[in-house]
Amino acid sequence: MMKIKGVIIQGSSRSNGNTGKIVSFIQERTGFESIDLKSKKIGAFDYNFENEGDDFLPLMKEIVYNYDTLIFATPVYWYSMSGIMKNFFDRISDCLKTEKELGRMLRGKNMGMVSCGSDAELKKGFEMPFVESANYLGMNYLGNFHTWLENDLIPDSLKTELSIFLENQMMTSE
Ligand SMILES: Cc1cc2nc3c(=O)[nH]c(=O)nc-3n(C[C@H](O)[C@H](O)[C@H](O)COP(=O)(O)O)c2cc1C
Repeated sequence: MMKIKGVIIQGSSRSNGNTGKIVSFIQERTGFESIDLKSKKIGAFDYNFENEGDDFLPLMKEIVYNYDTLIFATPVYWYSMSGIMKNFFDRISDCLKTEKELGRMLRGKNMGMVSCGSDAELKKGFEMPFVESANYLGMNYLGNFHTWLENDLIPDSLKTELSIFLENQMMTSE
């Protein structure tokens, strides 16, 4: 078994909110680095690549050159991933058109996803865009763990389960 170099990509509309707390916990447990999309300027996908000069391309390069495992950490906003995270996914299309080499470098990497909602239920279908995007990009999808906070804290039982998930599914590969 090989130790994995991973990064947590945070897609919340606030840096130190609930998803941020989950990301800090994951960092503590895994030693993975984190990237806060909120602190980056990443425009929506544009057919004329009008946003080509924003933070997306340098960020994508940093990710593909440095990490094997990408954990997307997103709040649940209107039953879906956050808009900030969706913009990031939409912009991967830049890599399939003008930056093909970069897109190809995603092949063989691992993708995990951690969601953070207001309660314990994650509606059916939430995970699908991650699973299918990983398939499309030739990435290995490692699974999802759903989280929520109670009185602004991560419940103890959730901490235990999340730690097991990270240990078993995010931190090792054959
Ligand atoms: C715009 C918006 C939409 C939301 N929609 C949902 C939802 O559909 N389902 C849900 O369980 N929680 C929903 N919530 C609650 C958040 O998922 C929850 O508070 C989450 O922990 C927030 O994480 P954050 O602090 O990183 O933004 C919504 C919150 C916001 C701000």
